Amino acid sequence: MPKLRLGINIDHVATVRNARCRDARALPDLLRAAQEAIKGGADGITFHLREDRRHILDADVARLRKHIKKPINLEMAATEEMLAIALAMRPHAVCLVPEKRQEVTTEGGLDAVKGGKKLGRIVNQLAAAGIRVSLFINPEAEQILAAWTSGAAAVEFHTGTYADSKGAAQKRELKRLQWAATQAHKLGLEVHAGHGLNYANTPAIAAIPEIVELNIGHFLVGEALFVGLAASVRQMRGIMNKARKKG
Ligand code: PXP
Repeated sequence: MPKLRLGINIDHVATVRNARCRDARALPDLLRAAQEAIKGGADGITFHLREDRRHILDADVARLRKHIKKPINLEMAATEEMLAIALAMRPHAVCLVPEKRQEVTTEGGLDAVKGGKKLGRIVNQLAAAGIRVSLFINPEAEQILAAWTSGAAAVEFHTGTYADSKGAAQKRELKRLQWAATQAHKLGLEVHAGHGLNYANTPAIAAIPEIVELNIGHFLVGEALFVGLAASVRQMRGIMNKARKKG
């Protein structure tokens, strides 16, 4: 099976920092968090620059880009403002996500069908700058096809519904993700997954052979309060490796 990469989303380290001070030099230090995640086995660092700057700030983006040598995956809305930022920053990768001001977190996938030509133009501009573009979508046939049509190199399947369900409903969601991963892979798209993943629900996702990258944040930052970030990331890395071997 191909290697399964782990991207660590550090948004919620910024949530804690911003509760006291909205300054990139304030504590807890985001750069230190990224370095600890890498020490624990992260293959890359992910963060979401939101329109309302509720966690990651522009100054964080500049500082992380300057000091982190591992691949950076910038999550952002498909807007002109964010496109300009990404083109100036030139991260390794961009993941285009839907964004609503009132939501607590990214609640669902991007509507790549509705995105149409405008989405395709943004994807093309990013790709022309050498940035690998993924679309964060629900595991649905029409979304996969629209993602492929947009010219994106990858899709990241939203695992939120899977993570929030239990028993038979969760098994159904897992089947849907397995099916979607096969379809996307057949079209030549690189397949990623993320949202709501934890130690218990990750093994089944990590065992899907077409998936080559997971992006995980909230749970591991929460666990870090008890064991430290390098340790929580290391434990997840071990769980992923084991699932991959078994799968
Ligand atoms: N992938 C994407 C595209 C996301 O937007 C998020 C969180 O917002 C994640 C992965 C990570 O989700 P979580 O924080 O629940 O692990």
